[in-house]
Formats: sequence, structure tokens, C-alpha cells
Amino acid sequence: MKKIGIGLLGLGTVGQGVANIISNPTDRHPLVEELELIGVSVRNLQKKRDISLPDSIFTTDPIEVVNNPNIQIIVEVMGGIEPAKSLIIQAIRAGKSVVTANKAVIARYGEEIANEAKAAGVYVLIEAAVGGGIPIIEPLKQSLGGNQITKVSGIINGTTNYILSRMDKEGVNYADVLKDAQQLGYAESDPAADVEGSDAADKIAILSGLAFGGPITRADIPTKGINLLEAIDVNYARKLGYGIKLLAISEKENSQSKSKESQPLSIWVEPTLVPENNPLAGVNGVNNAILVEGNPIGRVMFFGPGAGSGPTASAVVADILNIAGIQSMSEDKPFNLDPLLSAKSWKKCHVAHQKEITKKNYIRLIAEDTPGVIGEIGTIFGKKKISIESIVQFDASDSEAEIVVITHKIKLGQLDQALSDIKNLSQVKRIAATMGCL
Ligand SMILES: NC(=O)c1ccc[n+]([C@@H]2O[C@H](COP(=O)([O-])OP(=O)(O)OC[C@H]3O[C@@H](n4cnc5c(N)ncnc54)[C@H](OP(=O)(O)O)[C@@H]3O)[C@@H](O)[C@H]2O)c1
Repeated sequence: MKKIGIGLLGLGTVGQGVANIISNPTDRHPLVEELELIGVSVRNLQKKRDISLPDSIFTTDPIEVVNNPNIQIIVEVMGGIEPAKSLIIQAIRAGKSVVTANKAVIARYGEEIANEAKAAGVYVLIEAAVGGGIPIIEPLKQSLGGNQITKVSGIINGTTNYILSRMDKEGVNYADVLKDAQQLGYAESDPAADVEGSDAADKIAILSGLAFGGPITRADIPTKGINLLEAIDVNYARKLGYGIKLLAISEKENSQSKSKESQPLSIWVEPTLVPENNPLAGVNGVNNAILVEGNPIGRVMFFGPGAGSGPTASAVVADILNIAGIQSMSEDKPFNLDPLLSAKSWKKCHVAHQKEITKKNYIRLIAEDTPGVIGEIGTIFGKKKISIESIVQFDASDSEAEIVVITHKIKLGQLDQALSDIKNLSQVKRIAATMGCL
């Protein structure tokens, strides 16, 4: 059988992992042996790499790889929005299937890319874009297709989970752990996309589109990272029986939209209190976990390494093999599988207005340590019809009290109104933190 030509755009952390698998097919799926690395584009030809490949396949011009007639599958693992997005489109228009790990591109331009792919009759597969080595994209597209999905939630950023796990275990400050994480290679020198939550928002945008049947506008997702989190909140959460995790959540609103109406989804990314007995509470370090809830499946959890060269390459190669499998079948006899069948949108979805999002909340207030202050705060919550799960005063000094409130599930609009009244109480100095709570 003729080998299937692979072109790699990028030979960094993920690219080298992919090249390593393709170069060492022993004991892997027999189709791996049918793959041949024909072209690799990088920025710097002189850079030292962990893998040795023939000089002849390297170029600094990615277009050369995209247009190489001996390459059937383009693997985009260069990252960033441009030129990655344009190269994906060029590859599709050249009639090539694409595998990409690029969540930033797919979260913003997934629909446009899927339409291009459909028109060209090729595949674009994205297993590595969410959850690193965890198979979550294909299960959502196929294995769980018989379910009415109600909620997808999880820990989908390994860097922040590592930082939070250490803050929780060792009681250390965010800034100190971040420095360590950078030294260990778990966080990039510019950690903004991870710690400010935008990486997790890209990923939940992709998962929402697949779980609920239609792309959503990435820019509409309310996103809060861990960069402003204080060690004291981690400490209080622990005392109340919770851990703090950066969660990405996408949930169907209760309203039943008719098939033609756009489905509102409550989607957000935020540091969130997770009860100690919740399966997500035990997910520590750089691991990721994604919970999918639906009818009739109930609840399933996907857990594993959310990043890294080997795990991410495992997901990329799985996609390559899927495409290679279909191509090798159609060589013998025409195999008329609807291209992108599994990625087809069937519904319109949109991110619900932030005020309409319903959830439990954690609020920490700094107030004067005077009698009656808790009563006044409770009265304001009561007037706004917010029922409180617990209200606790911590570490009162001579003049100040830290008051922590956990609400039952309420609309964020209700909470905003109550907090603006609470801020006006003469005894309340400031609202120090607000977070979601499971
Ligand atoms: N790292 C992970 O654990 C992980 C996990 C899941 C998904 N991803 C995604 O996978 C993709 C790749 O990540 P990575 O960590 O492998 O990145 P990386 O280590 O920075 O590697 C990027 C590679 O692309 C090349 N490159 C970058 N810009 C280029 C340009 N303009 N022209 C030509 N080549 C260019 C670089 O060339 P040089 O080597 O010459 O600099 C390098 O080989 C990203 O979309 C990322 O979000 C990564």
C-alpha cells in the first residue's frame, strides 16, 4: 500500500511528540507504519531538537509543506492565530485533510473552517485541542451522540490546576507558585492565556459547540482567571469543606428552546469552590478532567494528562489514523462517509446573558467588627430573595471582620443587586472576593 504523506507545520513540544510516534511504529496500530513524514516547517532551522529527522524534509516556508503533492494530511501544531488559520484554510482548499491542536483558532474560526472543509470534502480533526491526551472530542461527537447533553464541566487547564493544587496543599501565594511553575516548564514565560482563563474559555467554547450542536461566539464567554485569587480564599474554602478549581462550565438553560430557536447556554470560566466529595476535587497537578452529563447516560468523567508532548501527540496521531483509515479504505473500494458528518452543527446556540446565569456563589466581605452586621447583610440578601446556604465570620481582628457567604443557586443579576446594596452599608468596607461554587 502507498504510504500516506504527513506534513508537520511546527516541530515544537507537540510536533516533536508526533514525529517521535511516526518514526517509531513498533507495537502501535499497524496504520502508523503507513504514515511517512514528508515535510516539516519550523521558524528556525538551526534550533536544537530532541528528535533527529533528515535535513531534506525541513523548510522555513509552511506553504511549501501545504502545497507538497506527496502530502495528504497536514498537521498544524505551530500555535497562534495567524498564520496558522490561513494555512489550515489553504490546506483544505488544496484538498488536504487537517489535524490541529490549535484551540485558539478552532474556538474563533471553527465554523468557517468546518464550512471550508465540507465544501472541499476533507476532514479537520481537533482531538488534541481540548484536554491534551484525553479523548473527549470524538466521544462527544460520536460515542455520546445518542444523549441529550445537559452539562459539560471540568478542569481543562493543567497550568492553573497545578498552581491551585499547590496553593491548596501548601498554603502558598499565587505569585510564588507561578514562579515555580515557570521554572518547571508547566507555565509559559507569558502565562496570561492560562492564568487569565482565556485558554480554558477557548476549550469550553469548542466543547459547547460539540455537546449542544451549534457554534457559539467565543468572545461572549464570561471569563475570570486565577490571577487575582488570594491564598486566604483557598484557606477559607478548605475550612468550609471545599477546594478551589478553575472550572469551565457549559450548561443548558432550563428553558426548552424549539429546534429553530437559538439555545441559550450558561457558559463561564471562573475559579470555583468544589465540594470535597465532588469527583473534580480529587483532580490535582497538571491533570485535566471533564464531566459530561446527559440523558440517558447520567454522568461520565474523562480524566488524564491535559498537556505535554507525549499525551498531546497521542491525540494528534489518533486523528491522523482516523483520516488515514478512511483514506486507505477508499483506495480499495469507495467509502462514502459524509465528510465531517460528525462535526455537523444541528442547532443554533448562544451564550446566555451573564445576569441570567444561575449558580451558587461564594462572597467574602470585609466589614467592621460591630454587632448586627451579619444580620444586616442577611436582610439585604433576603430582600433580594437570595437564600443563603451559610454565612460565617472568620478571623475577626479588633476592628475588622471577614464575612464569608455561600448562597444557594441564584441568578447573577440578583447577586449584583444585593452586592451593590451591601456595598452601601456603612459597616461594610469592601467586597474582597466573589467566586462560583458547585
Ligand atoms: N504543549 C502542549 O502541551 C499542548 C497541549 C495541547 C495543545 N497544544 C497546542 O499545540 C500547538 C503547538 O503547541 P506547542 O507547545 O508544540 O508549541 P511550541 O513548542 O511553541 O512549537 C511551535 C512550533 O511551531 C513553529 N512555528 C511557530 N510559529 C511559526 C511560524 N510563524 N512559521 C513557521 N513555524 C512556526 C516553531 O518553530 P521553531 O521550533 O523553529 O521555533 C515550533 O517548532 C498550539 O496550538 C498549542 O495550543 C499544546
